[in-house]
Amino acid sequence: MAGKPSYLGLLNAISLIESRAYAYLVVWAEKTPSDDVRNVLLRVAAREGEHGMSFAKRISELGYEVRPKDDPSAEKVMAIAASDRSDLEKMELLKLNTLDTGSEPDIFDNFFRDHTIDIATGELLGRYIAEERDTARLLRSCYEQLSATA
Ligand SMILES: [Fe+2]
Repeated sequence: MAGKPSYLGLLNAISLIESRAYAYLVVWAEKTPSDDVRNVLLRVAAREGEHGMSFAKRISELGYEVRPKDDPSAEKVMAIAASDRSDLEKMELLKLNTLDTGSEPDIFDNFFRDHTIDIATGELLGRYIAEERDTARLLRSCYEQLSATA
């Protein structure tokens, strides 16, 4: 097998971040009093969890393993999700209302600067990016509805 792919670290980071997001979104979904918010949170959680596993699967197919890494903010994020704060407050604290950058650049724009990305990983990354941007729009519209009724 050729050398270690240059994008392995990116795949690892995505797998970890997405799996953590799944965990806190599910906890939050159990706390919200709103059926609409729960619907959004569970849809996003399902995407995040699937991304976490799909990227772990891809890393394995490439011949490697997900490397766990401590996230100093994970505990704090989980505490916010599990708290009795309002959904609006949670969205603001977790900055979920600012993920959608519209037509402005976002963190995903640089992913394909690495021209060595293989076809299967490229397919996965492309779908991942499109879903993340859709999620960002979904969360922003959820936030706007919550603000309007607050
Ligand atoms: Fe995500």
